[in-house]
Amino acid sequence: MRLFLGDLADREWLRQVLAEVRPDHVYHLAAQAAVPAAWASPGTTLTNNILGQLNLIEVLLELGLAPRLLVIGSADEYGLVQPHELPIRETNPLRPNNPYAVSKIAQDYLGYQYFLSHHLPIVRVRPFNHIGPRQGPGFVVPDFAKQIAEAEAGKHPPVLRVGNLTARRDFSDVRDIVHAYVLALERGEPGEVYNLGSEQSHSIREVLDTLLALSRVPVGVEPDPSRLRPSEVPELVSDCSRFRARTGWRPTYRFEDSLRDVLNYWRERVAREP
Ligand code: GDD
Repeated sequence: MRLFLGDLADREWLRQVLAEVRPDHVYHLAAQAAVPAAWASPGTTLTNNILGQLNLIEVLLELGLAPRLLVIGSADEYGLVQPHELPIRETNPLRPNNPYAVSKIAQDYLGYQYFLSHHLPIVRVRPFNHIGPRQGPGFVVPDFAKQIAEAEAGKHPPVLRVGNLTARRDFSDVRDIVHAYVLALERGEPGEVYNLGSEQSHSIREVLDTLLALSRVPVGVEPDPSRLRPSEVPELVSDCSRFRARTGWRPTYRFEDSLRDVLNYWRERVAREP
């Protein structure tokens, strides 16, 4: 196995790497995935996510390569879903309400367009929220777990700063999602799009309460206005029957176990950092 480090904005680098590797499978995961970062710098997220994927596809075409390609969209594409539309099927209208969601719609539809126009075997997925060890700050579970781990280590006051706790999200473990990506690329139908999630939603308050119950020290909670967003998706919960029928995939990790694993990861990381 070889690792090439580079930037998808650099087409010359992409051309060299792809000409050498000549892949028959491509998992295109390189993107800016944090919604707060997209609000802070919409142009960076839009440029990075859309042009990175466009360069990848264009260079594959220039080289005459047609690998199976997995394009990663997002549940956030559905955006302002109406309560009667839950659980969300792939046929739901897309009503994006943040710049990240627009970037993911563009990636999703670029994938579809190149399937239609150039017959590239592109499979698209719309993963719902997923969590696990090594996820960085900027997402709710590591944001909370890091503060708890720092409070336990005496590196942070024992007060956890939080944003909106009323939103509900469909959380899976990243290890289940990675398995789904492999199944999607190997068994998914080119041109098709698949939801990936747990088909259950939890409120952010439940995430907070579960993590606080695992804390080794008492930790208070304080609202942090800087963590609130200009607009918010109230609830996302998936219907994954299309993907299940195609592959038989089902998530295996329990929500509480994933949260515990994330907190343990942050305990180790905080202990290692000065
Ligand atoms: N990040 C963050 N940090 N979110 C917070 C916090 C906090 O301190 N406090 C409350 N929240 C709330 C957010 O307002 C949001 O309603 C919810 O927690 C989840 O936030 P994120 O973890 O940032 O995820 P997201 O739902 O906005 O987006 C995630 O899921 C998408 C798929 O549904 C990301 O993982 C995306 O990359 C992914 O595509």
